[in-house]
Amino acid sequence: MRTIVTVVGARPQFIKAAPLSAALRARAREVLVHTGQHFDPGMSDVFFTELGLPRPDHHLGISGGPHGRQTGAMLAAIEEVLESERPDIALVYGDTNSTLAGALAAAKLHIPIAHVEAGLRSFNRAMPEDVNRVLTDHVSTWLLAPSEASRLQLEREGITRGVHVVGDIMYDAILRHRERAAASPFPAALGLEPGRYYLCTIHRAENTDDPARLRRLFTGLARLDRPVVLPLHPRTRGRLAEFGIEPGAGVRTIDPVGYLDMLRLQQASACVLTDSGGVQKEAYYLEVPCVTLRDETEWTETVETGWNRLAGTDPDAIEAAVRGLAGYRGARPPLYGRGDSARRIAGVLLGEIPAREAA
Ligand code: UD1
Ligand code: UDP
Repeated sequence: MRTIVTVVGARPQFIKAAPLSAALRARAREVLVHTGQHFDPGMSDVFFTELGLPRPDHHLGISGGPHGRQTGAMLAAIEEVLESERPDIALVYGDTNSTLAGALAAAKLHIPIAHVEAGLRSFNRAMPEDVNRVLTDHVSTWLLAPSEASRLQLEREGITRGVHVVGDIMYDAILRHRERAAASPFPAALGLEPGRYYLCTIHRAENTDDPARLRRLFTGLARLDRPVVLPLHPRTRGRLAEFGIEPGAGVRTIDPVGYLDMLRLQQASACVLTDSGGVQKEAYYLEVPCVTLRDETEWTETVETGWNRLAGTDPDAIEAAVRGLAGYRGARPPLYGRGDSARRIAGVLLGEIPAREAA
């Protein structure tokens, strides 16, 4: 039986790992490593409980600090795990520092790497995530790309071997859990009715760490015609306090919520505003228009369909985008597969689907 060491550490990785972990464990030995990057119960434990993700076999307890130090500490600790577990495959997700550390540690030990969400680019190298993605893709053996566009991007960079278009694993997660999300107490618990509020998330370093950008974002939110529910990422909470920015009266900040509550809050909102990668896709799957609070996106297909609009951080642009999009109803072609990504990836990694069929 093959051994797979899976490295996760941040909120979106717990969500992505849940469906694939279940598929892999049916036929392989999976060793789960949590780097500790996200550690608040509401940023970590809640997802393990709600999604039935197994308890980590190794918890490295590494978080915070500058990027180099954080990634370096993870690299050293993951290397030790890999040396003791001696896996056949190291599996990493997405684009965080935990992703890069896992990939680098495995590459140095000549352990083949599988990268879920390969081939995405923002072409903005000031984003730590874009650096993490490019480096991870270039040391990976299996590049599990969500779309044809991501496959083409890898080809442009000279990567053609080991590339499989498998769809988006987050779509698997939604299909599995969206019915359970209907039991969430939100939005009623906030005294809000479905369709009469906006849901917002902000955590991207480029937005939170620049006081002028963060202030502009909150100016834009305060101008909207409906209440805005904003589950606050700890990074954003910290920066708002540090820069002395007060959210406007219509902005309801709450603690980060679990996955089921988050799906419900998105699905019942009139429009989602976000700088998250995952939330842009979820809004699309849940048939809710999305205004992206960034200047570029990796998920360009959602913009091409008309369901997502890039507004950056300009208050006028945010207000205009929400006004233009709220209530949007356009065609919704399947952009990132059919929600069977976990089965396809497990098939590729365990050698049960020939490469031709997987692509
Ligand atoms: C990270 C990822 C980002 C991803 C996001 C998902 C990198 C470079 N960034 O950003 O790509 O979109 O996760 O949410 O890997 N903190 C807490 N409690 C927690 C988690 C974080 O207090 O549970 C604090 C940290 O100590 C740190 C700050 O929040 O001071 C930022 O956390 P960090 O994991 O470094 O980056 P994120 O902004 O979460
Ligand atoms: N999410 C959540 N609770 C929240 C905010 C987000 O469960 O309070 C979920 C969201 O539904 C999505 C994932 O976290 O599945 C996205 O993670 P995040 O925005 O932190 O990171 P990104 O996708 O930008 O890397």
